[in-house]
Amino acid sequence: MKILVTGASGNVGRYVVKELLKMGEEVVAAGTDISRLQNLFGDCVEAVEFDFTKPETFEGALSSVDRIFLMRPPHLGKPEDLYPFIKAAQKHSVKLLSFLSLMGIEKNTVPPHYKIEKYIEAAGIPFAHIRPGFFMQNVSGIHSEEIKEKDMIFIPAGRSKTSFIDASDIGLAIATVLNDSTKHKNTAYTITGAEALDYYQVADILSKLTGRRITYAKPGFLKYRNYYIKQRGLDKEYVNVTVALYFMTRMGTAKAITKDYYNLTGRCPKSFEDFARENIDTF
Ligand SMILES: NC(=O)c1ccc[n+]([C@@H]2O[C@H](COP(=O)([O-])OP(=O)(O)OC[C@H]3O[C@@H](n4cnc5c(N)ncnc54)[C@H](OP(=O)(O)O)[C@@H]3O)[C@@H](O)[C@H]2O)c1
Repeated sequence: MKILVTGASGNVGRYVVKELLKMGEEVVAAGTDISRLQNLFGDCVEAVEFDFTKPETFEGALSSVDRIFLMRPPHLGKPEDLYPFIKAAQKHSVKLLSFLSLMGIEKNTVPPHYKIEKYIEAAGIPFAHIRPGFFMQNVSGIHSEEIKEKDMIFIPAGRSKTSFIDASDIGLAIATVLNDSTKHKNTAYTITGAEALDYYQVADILSKLTGRRITYAKPGFLKYRNYYIKQRGLDKEYVNVTVALYFMTRMGTAKAITKDYYNLTGRCPKSFEDFARENIDTF
């Protein structure tokens, strides 16, 4: 049987697909944009049209799979948005569902991931929650515009530290649990990078690698929220979730360093400096 990868074109999903294929697994890659999936994976995967908000797309995605990688698209801010699909998965008696959750979620009921984890567990679906720290791709993705154009990091994280992890490492961890569904049944793993950095240190690394003077602006929450909604035009629900996450970060919830990634994969996670060097063009 195959493995369904939702959000297969996303930061993490694309690496889940890549790592599963390396392990010899067959993959059903799901997303709202089939041509995007075909461009990314060619005919190495079965690409299916899938939308969490369109239950009529669920059957086609689930018909030939016995394991699932489930992610919550960032703009779907309510946990309820994922419930219809989880109910459909329950009927298919899958062997394992690995949900892309969030570090520290076991003690924080605010982000949608908390209720989604509980809903999966209550449905009796064998689960392996993957709870990563902040992605390095946040810096090279959504926040790279200000770095590139204004030599400035604009993130409301105060002086807090973050144990950033590369999405490709997360993809490997998820593929590892899906590849051995018996071993990882009903588990949860918190995976992080090997070091915790504040954004002044991130700015120093980027300055060193780019040869420009990049600074950390340390904006407050209101300034950040207004800027991303009004000037960058990002989805309000998405920005609100990120405000809650940076609030948690300031409380120190993003700085823990765990051994789960090494224990799962036998590898050391990538450092931020190596990641930035590999992605230097984005800065
Ligand atoms: N960023 C972080 O630091 C961090 C840390 C921990 C946890 N997380 C969690 O990770 C998740 C985001 O993962 P990501 O960064 O890999 O995602 P992403 O790169 O933003 O990609 C979103 C994916 O969702 C798909 N998608 C969009 N709308 C959809 C819909 N209505 N139905 C089905 N698929 C849809 C998109 O595919 P199409 O283009 O084909 O539609 C795309 O592949 C979030 O839940 C976030 O909270 C993030």
